[in-house]
Amino acid sequence: MQTCLVTGAAGFVGSHLSEQLIARGHRVIGVDAFIPYYPRALKEQNLAGLRQSAGFTFHEVDLRSGDLAPLLAEADVVFHLAAQAGLVRSWSEFDSYMTCNIQATQRLLEAVTQSPVRHFLHISTSSVYGRFATGDETAPLAPISPYGITKLAAEHLVQAYAANYGLPATILRLFSVYGPRQRPDMGYNIFIRAFLEGRTITVDGDGTDSRSNTYVRDCAEGLILAFEQPERSVGETFNIGGGQEVNVNQVLAILEELTGKPAQIVHGPARAGDQRRTVADIGKAQRLLGYMPQTTIVDGLAAQLAWQRGQ
Ligand SMILES: NC(=O)c1ccc[n+]([C@@H]2O[C@H](COP(=O)([O-])OP(=O)(O)OC[C@H]3O[C@@H](n4cnc5c(N)ncnc54)[C@H](O)[C@@H]3O)[C@@H](O)[C@H]2O)c1
Repeated sequence: MQTCLVTGAAGFVGSHLSEQLIARGHRVIGVDAFIPYYPRALKEQNLAGLRQSAGFTFHEVDLRSGDLAPLLAEADVVFHLAAQAGLVRSWSEFDSYMTCNIQATQRLLEAVTQSPVRHFLHISTSSVYGRFATGDETAPLAPISPYGITKLAAEHLVQAYAANYGLPATILRLFSVYGPRQRPDMGYNIFIRAFLEGRTITVDGDGTDSRSNTYVRDCAEGLILAFEQPERSVGETFNIGGGQEVNVNQVLAILEELTGKPAQIVHGPARAGDQRRTVADIGKAQRLLGYMPQTTIVDGLAAQLAWQRGQ
């Protein structure tokens, strides 16, 4: 049993990760500041099950300003997920991206170096690769959104603390995560809401942009495999993605099948900063960590649809 500090624990991925850690017998110290990027009520729902769990404690703390030492005093490992996510608003709300993604990470790293923490797992994104994220972890890093740029800066900070202070760190780059609790600004959540409410769906571009989406349970499993095998993961960077590449048109066709309703679609212009194609090359995570995503896109979308129907 280890004690894991999870930043961003009230968020989409952080709440699932915390639940899966507790199910494996670990203690979780959750931290979140309820940044109003989307409503606090949704994040409280994410936390509802965890708050019943004996292995979970929660602290409402902003990493940009709070006292971090007491949070870290009992932690064996840190999973750093807290961030201002989503690329669209990073053009207009840059301050929040800069402070939550860069400054908060620097403050946390500084506090970690003064703590007993033995492993820092930093959650990054395929957006660091830029318009096409189709290669392995050695592919050029060329982000095309302010979001991707702040996340890449955070990676560099982690590497600087590793190089100078011997911080045992792992970087995990996530690829488009989906499933129950998906953020309301994310594509599948928006599509499913439109299906359920009988509204028109605006597809940015021609619908051929593709993603290797990662079901949230598989994603959390990848992070846990890296945590459980520090001898294989410290000092490494891994892509954590789903196995199946699908484009927007294919996703809408699956949702038509699952809901039994035809999609009403209009096409809009492609959004600035959007990635064209992401295909997670997960060979390294498979080889070193035994990572193997299990959930098909049809099953994953069915689970997300069921969750959104219950909302
Ligand atoms: N969801 C995806 O598809 C995806 C893909 C790639 C990478 N990621 C990364 O995964 C992580 C989690 O993303 P998510 O989709 O769960 O987002 P989310 O917005 O649901 O969760 C992030 C949480 O971090 C908290 N937070 C932000 N700034 C904070 C601060 N200064 N102090 C304390 N808490 C703060 C927010 O309140 C939020 O609850 C992020 O680092 C994101 O960049 C997500």
